[in-house]
Amino acid sequence: MNTLIKNIKTLVQAGELPDAPLRGKDMATLPVIDNAFLFIKNNQIAGFGDMKNCPERADKIVDATGKMVFPTWCDSHTHLVYAANREGEFVDRIKGLTYEEIARRGGGILNSARRLRDTPEDVLLEDAYERLQEVVRYGTGAIEIKSGYGLTLESELKILRVIRRLKDMTDVTIKATFLGAHALPPEYKDKRTAYIDLIMNEMLPRIADEGLADYCDVFCEKVAFTPQETERIIAAGQQYGLRPKIHTNQFNCMGGIQAAVKHNALSVDHLEVVNEEEIACLQNAPNTIATLLPSAPFFINDHYPPARKLINADIPLALATDFNPGSSPSGKMPFVVSLACIKMRMTPEEAINAATINGAYAIEADKTLGSIEKGKQANFFITKKISSIAQLPYSFGSDLVETVFIQGKKI
Ligand code: NIG
Ligand code: FE
Repeated sequence: MNTLIKNIKTLVQAGELPDAPLRGKDMATLPVIDNAFLFIKNNQIAGFGDMKNCPERADKIVDATGKMVFPTWCDSHTHLVYAANREGEFVDRIKGLTYEEIARRGGGILNSARRLRDTPEDVLLEDAYERLQEVVRYGTGAIEIKSGYGLTLESELKILRVIRRLKDMTDVTIKATFLGAHALPPEYKDKRTAYIDLIMNEMLPRIADEGLADYCDVFCEKVAFTPQETERIIAAGQQYGLRPKIHTNQFNCMGGIQAAVKHNALSVDHLEVVNEEEIACLQNAPNTIATLLPSAPFFINDHYPPARKLINADIPLALATDFNPGSSPSGKMPFVVSLACIKMRMTPEEAINAATINGAYAIEADKTLGSIEKGKQANFFITKKISSIAQLPYSFGSDLVETVFIQGKKI
């Protein structure tokens, strides 16, 4: 079965890309072909180029006159599996409490953990599948999903098993991250070390044994874990082949970036606050991507990461949604791209690169996804009729993604 998309106004992110995450000035270059075609054979991209060279025949032909084609978004940081929304805390914040104050009162992540422990695996799966279907309609074709609302061996396994079942239910690429160190459970309030031992000696071996995770995450923050604790946990994860992807610098600069870089983290995520020393540390870490999650500071009314400073320092940026019930109850990548442009002064080209190819690097899917290249998976979306690439982030409230293809199949 082959499919031809013809008369594409602009085919975006199409062509040769450097062999590493984009950084610095390269982030501003987005390869495009105007008046283009895209040829799909089975689940792969088999050809693309100028309409002058368009094949004449195909099993199925789609006319994309006036429309653009993009590779699907790679959402490299989410907490898609959760038990319930947290509108109560949303209202509490409107009335003046901060995210950290709510966490210290036993709300926040602990609130989600209480709810998740009582929710059967099948219910979690059904809800997560519904969310996944929703984000695919926004153009997401690859997604990382974390555990971290379990905080007991059984509940962490429950989440990771849901993620594994999701992988079997979809053609979307899914990567799983173990985040047992998301918050200190109340039963370990005065026994921090005992919880870290539980993660290292019981959770990690079991998760590795069942092959349930690709990465290991820790929330390094005053309300969660220290850099020293973070290092212990990620070093243990590395022994099981799990590369670190770390939540850090959401509210405080406290050494999380340095801890992550020391252990060759694939990404450091959040970075609402970053100091000069940490920027220098990332400059010396060519294998670590800075993943920015602007819908989190948008939702909890915090300040945004210094994207321009990071780009000027040649640090590769990815953009992701952080889809979770506490700080970002939305998995809408087009909105994240808009926020990156509006609030962080990234150009549309930089934001699209960060949300596609650099996002693919941040989940090690760069060989198969993130751009329009021959041999890559045919994950792409066709927009509605739009006037320019910049209209995508500009029309921030409109749904401009019209049709999504995952592995060559129309969704
Ligand atoms: O990435 N900051 C830590 N974890 C999530 C939020 C978790 C929650 O509030 O439920 C985040 O923002
Ligand atoms: Fe997160």
